[in-house]
Amino acid sequence: MRIIPLPGTNQKPSAISLGTGGFGSSVPRDEAFKMLDTYAEAGGNFLDTAHCYAAWLPNGAGASERTLGAWLKARKTSMIVATKGAHPDLKKMEVPRMRPEHIAQDLRESLERLQLERVDLYWLHRDDPNVPVGEVLGALSEHISAGRIGAIGASNWTVARLDAAAKYAQEKGSVAFCASQIGWSLARVNPGVSGQNGMLFMDDATLAYHRKTKLAMAAYSSQGNGFFSGKYRRGETPANKQGLVKTYFSDANFGRLERAQALAKKLGRTANEVALAYLTSQSFPTCAIAGPHSVEQVKSSCAAGDLLLSADDLASLEG
Ligand SMILES: NC(=O)c1ccc[n+]([C@@H]2O[C@H](COP(=O)([O-])OP(=O)(O)OC[C@H]3O[C@@H](n4cnc5c(N)ncnc54)[C@H](OP(=O)(O)O)[C@@H]3O)[C@@H](O)[C@H]2O)c1
Repeated sequence: MRIIPLPGTNQKPSAISLGTGGFGSSVPRDEAFKMLDTYAEAGGNFLDTAHCYAAWLPNGAGASERTLGAWLKARKTSMIVATKGAHPDLKKMEVPRMRPEHIAQDLRESLERLQLERVDLYWLHRDDPNVPVGEVLGALSEHISAGRIGAIGASNWTVARLDAAAKYAQEKGSVAFCASQIGWSLARVNPGVSGQNGMLFMDDATLAYHRKTKLAMAAYSSQGNGFFSGKYRRGETPANKQGLVKTYFSDANFGRLERAQALAKKLGRTANEVALAYLTSQSFPTCAIAGPHSVEQVKSSCAAGDLLLSADDLASLEG
């Protein structure tokens, strides 16, 4: 598994991060343990969870973090643990929760559930543009100084806010975000998808910003929710996959899928591996957060971890 060092930190995460959104809920704990074991065996060391995961289920809040905490305690293995906080209450999505007191409360609960004294990487799960970047970085800085957080990142932040935070950090000599986390895969989302529920997806301006600044990226929905699995073909509309169809089905994306399949054939790989490597082979540090829901999917996602594509490959995949 390739390692993608995070600039500005001493962290060396693996190219494929394990998304654990369903762990302890849609993925029962014993299956989640097997998937975590498989991920570690494949050389993976970068776990992605969040304070709000499974809060959409009755009594589900914290299920993912608790599952990771139990596994980390049982295995005593070293992992880069990344969690996210400051997400709005799921029943009041229009009310931001990004004041210092929200961050402090979520972080305290996350550490308790994870059974850790310190989380390696702490993401703000959403943004509230009404909170000045100085206030946000100031609040996070206190947790870093207290040893509760190793490094910080921003998830679903616009380029304008990321840039404002970077400039503030540079001018004031304060802590800075070491990475951004948004949705990104070789298949781009259809118009109107980015921004729904506060989730941002890659666009040309954001890509140009990362290419210019080299700000690191952790891409979620990195497998296009299974778009590259081989199950979907141009002209066919799968039943019970309305979300996938609405988000990813387009002529342009089927072109990307077909080019990924052609390159995969040439390299003796799968199209899903090529799609993941498209992300992890960029000119700025990028980890791909995969969301497998079985041991087999963990293995096939991690199989992309050693694949490095050339700049020409990336350009021809984009088309
Ligand atoms: N920061 C944020 O706001 C945010 C938002 C969303 C997600 N995330 C994080 O990102 C993680 C991943 O997100 P995601 O679930 O949207 O990503 P994803 O990996 O693009 O989508 C997951 C789906 O892809 C398919 N799949 C998984 N592994 C596969 C494989 N090896 N080969 C082929 N298909 C495969 C499965 O679909 P089938 O059911 O068809 O098999 C699975 O349900 C989450 O668990 C979470 O940690 C963060």
